[in-house]
Parts: sequence; C-alpha cells; structure tokens
Amino acid sequence: MIISIIAAVGLNNELGKNNDLIWNIPSDLKFFKNTTLNHNILMGKNTFFSLKKPLKNRKNIVITDTEIDVEGIVTFSNINDALEYCKNEKEIFVIGGATIYKQFIDIADKIYLTEINDTAEADVFFPIFNKNNFSIEVLGEGHENGVSFKHILYTKVIE
Ligand SMILES: NC(=O)c1ccc[n+]([C@@H]2O[C@H](COP(=O)([O-])OP(=O)(O)OC[C@H]3O[C@@H](n4cnc5c(N)ncnc54)[C@H](OP(=O)(O)O)[C@@H]3O)[C@@H](O)[C@H]2O)c1
Repeated sequence: MIISIIAAVGLNNELGKNNDLIWNIPSDLKFFKNTTLNHNILMGKNTFFSLKKPLKNRKNIVITDTEIDVEGIVTFSNINDALEYCKNEKEIFVIGGATIYKQFIDIADKIYLTEINDTAEADVFFPIFNKNNFSIEVLGEGHENGVSFKHILYTKVIE
C-alpha cells in the first residue's frame, strides 16, 4: 500500500488558521479532488469538522478519540487500526491536519505538496521533512487569486 500525504502549504509551511484553510485556490481544490477521488482519505477530527461533511466518492476515515455521529465516515482511535483497515488499498491519502501529518510524515511514500508562493499568519504548520530522501517532480503550476503555486510530488527514494 502506498501511503500518500496531500497538503497545501505557504512558504513557512503554513497549513491553516482557526480550523480553516488560509488561501482560497479553487484549482488546488480541484487538484486535491482529482488526486484523491475513489481513494480512502485519512484525516484528524479537526480537519473533518472543517470540511463540514464527508467528501464524496472517497472513503472518509477520521482518527479521533471522540464518538462522531455522522453518516458516511469510519472512525479509528489510532493510526495503526486505520492503516490495518486500509491494508488492501493500492494508495491511501492522508489529508491532514497538522497532528495527522506529523504522525504520517516518516512513513509516507509520497507527498503531494501544493507549494504556495506566499506567507500568512497560521496556527498549524506542515512538519519539516528531509527533502533529500525524496525525488521531486513538478506536476503543474498556476496563479489564482493573487498567489502563484506549484504542485510538487515528492516520492521517497531512501528508507
Ligand atoms: N493546507 C492544507 O492542506 C490542510 C489540510 C488539512 C487541514 N488543514 C488545516 O489544518 C487544521 C487542522 O489541523 P489540526 O492539527 O488542528 O487537527 P487535525 O489533525 O485535523 O485533528 C486533530 C484531532 O484528531 C484527533 N487525533 C489525531 N491524532 C490522533 C490519534 N493518534 N489518536 C486519536 N485521535 C487522534 C484528535 O481528536 P480527538 O481529541 O477527538 O481525539 C485531535 O484533536 C485546520 O486549520 C485545517 O484547515 C490544512
């Protein structure tokens, strides 16, 4: 199983503020949708509540110690049980937030990072990782709502 992380970050690894995204980049949301469609997506409780409802055409897996009474999601209280549940999948996507990225960063095979050429105030940040352990491919780039960005795929080459 390929463990992929997907995130959008600013120049200082900014991820979010007040349990919401910072930048409004519709084409990045489209990239996120196309990349994760028909796959299992794993997220923390805060990220799930920031989405408001489960994302369509993906199995929504929420890691939490809290009981969440919402249809269309599966919950686990730790990442190992969530990974066991996904074991027959070809590729799964870890979609955040900061606490979840931190727990997966060392075991991720791929990191789809939208790198936004801007800075902002934030209260959650993407974890630092050693880019030397990854090959780097630019999947695309764009400019929208006043910011430019690149979709970068980091693929692990060193264990
Ligand atoms: N820029 C991006 O690409 C991106 C992507 C996703 C999210 N975000 C942003 O990130 C922020 C949310 O991130 P966050 O770090 O605050 O929250 P989060 O990682 O989404 O969720 C944290 C919660 O998940 C549960 N959890 C995490 N690890 C667990 C474990 N091992 N076992 C049991 N429960 C666990 C805990 O909830 P319980 O207390 O219920 O156990 C914890 O309080 C928002 O601002 C959001 O917009 C940005």
